[in-house]
Amino acid sequence: MDTPGVVRIFSLLLVPLLLGSAHGLHNASQRTFEIDYSHNRFLKDGQPFRYISGSIHYFRVPRMYWKDRLVKMKMAGLNAIQMYVAWNFHEPQPGQYLFTGDHDVEHFIQLAHKLGLLVILRPGPYICAEWDMGGLPAWLLEKKSIVLRSSDPDYLASVDKWLRVLLPKMKPLLYQNGGPIISVQVENEYGSYSACDYTYLRFLQNRFRSYLGEKVLLFTTDGAHERFLKCGTLQGLYATVDFGAGTNITNAFLIQRKTEPKGPLVNSEFYTGWLDHWGQPHSVVSTKAVASSLQDMLARGANVNLYMFMGGTNFAYWNGANTPYQAQPTSYDYDAPLSEAGDLTEKYFALRDVIKKFEKVPEGPIPPSTPKFAYGKVTLKKLKTVQEALNILCPFGPIKSIYPLTFVQVKQYFGFVLYRTTLPQNYSSPTPLSSPSNGVHDRAYVSVNGVLQGVLERNTVSTLNITGKAGDTLDLLVENMGRVNYGNAINDFKGLISNLTLNSSILINWEIFPLDTENAVRSSLEAWNGRDGGCRDKACAHGSSNLTAPAFYVANFSIPRGIPDLPRDTFIQFPGWTKGQVWINGFNLGRYWPARGPQVTLFVPQHILLTAGPNTVIVLELERAPCRDSGPGQCMVEFVDKPVISGAQTTNRLNADRN
Ligand SMILES: *[C@@H]1O[C@H](CO)[C@@H](O)[C@H](O)[C@H]1NC(C)=O
Ligand SMILES: *[C@@H]1O[C@H](CO)[C@@H](O)[C@H](O)[C@H]1NC(C)=O
Ligand SMILES: *[C@@H]1O[C@H](CO)[C@@H](O)[C@H](O)[C@H]1NC(C)=O
Ligand SMILES: *[C@@H]1O[C@H](CO)[C@@H](O)[C@H](O)[C@H]1NC(C)=O
Ligand SMILES: *[C@@H]1O[C@H](CO)[C@@H](O)[C@H](O)[C@H]1NC(C)=O
Ligand SMILES: *[C@@H]1O[C@H](CO)[C@@H](O)[C@H](O)[C@H]1NC(C)=O
Ligand SMILES: *[C@@H]1O[C@H](CO)[C@@H](O)[C@H](O)[C@H]1NC(C)=O
Ligand SMILES: *[C@@H]1O[C@H](CO)[C@@H](O)[C@H](O)[C@H]1NC(C)=O
Repeated sequence: MDTPGVVRIFSLLLVPLLLGSAHGLHNASQRTFEIDYSHNRFLKDGQPFRYISGSIHYFRVPRMYWKDRLVKMKMAGLNAIQMYVAWNFHEPQPGQYLFTGDHDVEHFIQLAHKLGLLVILRPGPYICAEWDMGGLPAWLLEKKSIVLRSSDPDYLASVDKWLRVLLPKMKPLLYQNGGPIISVQVENEYGSYSACDYTYLRFLQNRFRSYLGEKVLLFTTDGAHERFLKCGTLQGLYATVDFGAGTNITNAFLIQRKTEPKGPLVNSEFYTGWLDHWGQPHSVVSTKAVASSLQDMLARGANVNLYMFMGGTNFAYWNGANTPYQAQPTSYDYDAPLSEAGDLTEKYFALRDVIKKFEKVPEGPIPPSTPKFAYGKVTLKKLKTVQEALNILCPFGPIKSIYPLTFVQVKQYFGFVLYRTTLPQNYSSPTPLSSPSNGVHDRAYVSVNGVLQGVLERNTVSTLNITGKAGDTLDLLVENMGRVNYGNAINDFKGLISNLTLNSSILINWEIFPLDTENAVRSSLEAWNGRDGGCRDKACAHGSSNLTAPAFYVANFSIPRGIPDLPRDTFIQFPGWTKGQVWINGFNLGRYWPARGPQVTLFVPQHILLTAGPNTVIVLELERAPCRDSGPGQCMVEFVDKPVISGAQTTNRLNADRN
């Protein structure tokens, strides 16, 4: 690799630098962060420096809690945080940017700076992160043949446009410019992706340099295997590795050494826990294993970033998925040292004790875990089925198409699209409705004349028998369960991505309703409440199974008076409910699916709760509500003060149950 030119530059700066630090000045031109190749370490302001960092994603933590979490990280003895920037979180539509409130990434970095934490920035553009499409905006797929993470010119043009917005915001926050950002990662584990396109990496290197300047330390991160470093690294980008507890550390760093014979040892993602999938046990990594590997790495003088130090929540629809298709749940607790709700865990204190052996850990009280409150049971009433509410959910009416269109083709990126057609003839005996090429992405709630017949599910259930008469309405409410975020299948189109057949004939003449649930839930509540939400005609009838038509349920609840410090954080659970989405006061808390597990409760941060007026909870149940129209009082949710993210799991048995 390169000879240590940076060190030579450093020695020229030596005298003013020492003077500066002696006077405690913050002269930007004297702030340096560099690699000392001859001593295998970093130099910060010319002094040997080693970082012990932790990952936190501002996009998974409500803004009101940013400071609390960062202070807890500081108090654990970390001297840096590592953070991704999620492109799709900031550019929801091409050219439309969000950088305020929970999206104010500059404010987050400034907060870290004020607390004396350095920042390792990972702006992607691809970030993986168990985040929808690995942080890439879904609208990139509007060019159907786009080759993501490559030098495809349309991809590069969108990337460049984004970097031209983001990186100039980051430039004043670089360490050299007086800010906390000591290094910037280019792409993410690029060596695990099949494209292996050095032109793309070179393009990024060039753009990062031109927007951030020549001085900033750029690096890459790849899994600790030779085959990953082959395609993930590039001359001029410092190569680092990632690996978890229990890995042979000597071996893993030898892999880094093959690409970087000299320079600091860096584990950019040392896993404190692991991710979850619906239907699989909650991942746990023992504190003992994490503490002992951390101790080993620190004893070698290595730089370590703990991924995650604080996981947080995939609110709304932000979770990603793996292949073969398995979606990640709403909680991104990750078994991290700070829990999803920011609570201190046994792991937190154990890792702090390890760090203490190597670095000075700040004195003083650690902010305590935030108190929780069990607001208790709330009874919901049914508002409307999705079909009954179509005029509110899709005010501009359907798009007509002979064959089905995907989500991006109708410019809907998240949530739900309803596909409607009519039965071409009588089917008096059970007739297979089928997606021969596994084209239901990802779940379709199938009803005939509003009566739910069953569920089609990507990779697992591609055929369902239905009955009906010529002219009956066939509806498929298709749910996007989160885009694949890792591997070579990240071009993850949603909706009905291929034709459906009924008795082997292709169904045609569709009406496609993109559903704007967010707007409906936030702004049309008055209209909803003003109308009769009860059951009319066949739309609310039930099939022979216990399935209920996808429908919205609503309730108000109040925060009790006379108890100090309310509102507090809480957790919502769904006794008897099956699968759906939940909002409180218009804030989309995410997906619930206790019938699949392992997550049972959802985190409810206190800032969305109101003490002055009633709080409105809206549940969209997709499969089977615990109440029937005739039996009041059974549809309830419960607010509890303890999370359950490690409940029982089941694989798909829904349709099997019916037979
Ligand atoms: C910072 O240091 C440089 C080099 O020593 C000097 O030229 C410059 O005037 C200083 N700036 C401030 C604001 O002190
Ligand atoms: C770890 O890897 C090194 C280098 O490959 C090897 O020499 C050593 O035996 C391994 N240690 C264990 C416990 O497997
Ligand atoms: C379909 O069924 C209905 C009633 O069951 C009947 O009136 C009608 O003639 C049938 N149509 C065809 C094409 O068989
Ligand atoms: C379904 O297809 C089979 C085989 O082609 C045919 O015998 C049957 O009549 C079809 N059923 C209906 C309801 O059209
Ligand atoms: C559909 O019905 C047919 C005939 O009644 C039956 O043989 C088949 O197993 C059913 N398929 C499913 C997926 O239920
Ligand atoms: C559906 O089938 C038609 C006719 O075979 C074909 O032209 C079209 O491409 C198919 N659409 C999809 C999305 O597969
Ligand atoms: C429907 O639910 C009831 C009550 O939970 C249960 O007894 C019954 O077995 C269920 N039927 C089916 C078909 O699942
Ligand atoms: C909830 O409270 C709001 C505001 O007071 C009111 O408009 C609405 O009708 C209530 N909804 C229910 C379901 O009680």
